[in-house]
Amino acid sequence: MRPLPTSPLSAAYLDSTLVNDFLDTNRASWDERAPAHAASPGYAVRRLASDPTALSGVVEFDRPLLGDIAGLRGVHLQCHIGTDTLSLHRLGARMSGLDFSPAALHQARALAAEAGADIDYVESTVDGAVAALGEGGFDLVYTGIGALCWLPRIRDWAHTVAALLRPGGRLFIREGHPVLWSMADPAGPDSPLAIGYPYFEQPDPQMWDEPGTYVETDVEFDHNVTYEWNHGLGEIVTALLDEGMAITGLAEHDSVPWEALPGLMVLDERGEWRLREHPERLPASYTLQAVKTR
Ligand SMILES: C[S@@+](CC[C@H](N)C(=O)[O-])C[C@H]1O[C@@H](n2cnc3c(N)ncnc32)[C@H](O)[C@@H]1O
Repeated sequence: MRPLPTSPLSAAYLDSTLVNDFLDTNRASWDERAPAHAASPGYAVRRLASDPTALSGVVEFDRPLLGDIAGLRGVHLQCHIGTDTLSLHRLGARMSGLDFSPAALHQARALAAEAGADIDYVESTVDGAVAALGEGGFDLVYTGIGALCWLPRIRDWAHTVAALLRPGGRLFIREGHPVLWSMADPAGPDSPLAIGYPYFEQPDPQMWDEPGTYVETDVEFDHNVTYEWNHGLGEIVTALLDEGMAITGLAEHDSVPWEALPGLMVLDERGEWRLREHPERLPASYTLQAVKTR
């Protein structure tokens, strides 16, 4: 892992060609990882396919704050291999899933078919979501768990979320906390917690070159470079407010559903990872809810 070297990207804002190059690089990484994720025990695809009552651990965690979503027209942005999308379908929502990775959508469609679930999967970038799905047609936008860090501009994301929702429709996002995304890589199990990367949104992405992935797999990957952007919590909230969204809930959690700081975290019986020592030090994830007011 390394930060982007001193680069020609130091313009006040990245131009769209450059952003598209970053997204193409990211897509290659996701296309390669999607089948490995579907085969990994971490995503529990076999359990979800064979047990019609099963829900993903992520959606199980969300349920108390999510409430009753039966009958809602929902879209899952950056749905990946569709495990959470299927779970939302099982809670009674009429779901669409959107992702820019054809390989991820292939897995999502295969899971939905095996589970007998009618879910509409659409290939698009988040920025293209309104063109792909139409404006104002959704009661619920659901997203998160490693989604926002792939998007260069949080204000563009908030604009898309608001445009997808009907007036009165709601956003539900549980996401890795921007403080977590800014943590330095642990050097070992006794590594002190330290901030190593930007907390606030920067025009230039952070470049990573990492061979593995965040779930268990023996697969060796060829496409290991990715580009990511952090967005501060205030930037996320303000971007939504500026789009006419009223914030209806903001809860911070001390856990995440993946081993975000390897060697420093322990797994609980719900599939959540938190710091082994004094987890109260770190906001690891948050759940943000908002309603479209205009
Ligand atoms: C970590 S997954 C998050 C999804 C979900 N939480 C999960 O784990 O199943 C990130 C997803 O975002 C998608 N993605 C990344 N950048 C995107 C973009 N600009 N537009 C649409 N999808 C994107 C990737 O293809 C990947 O499937």
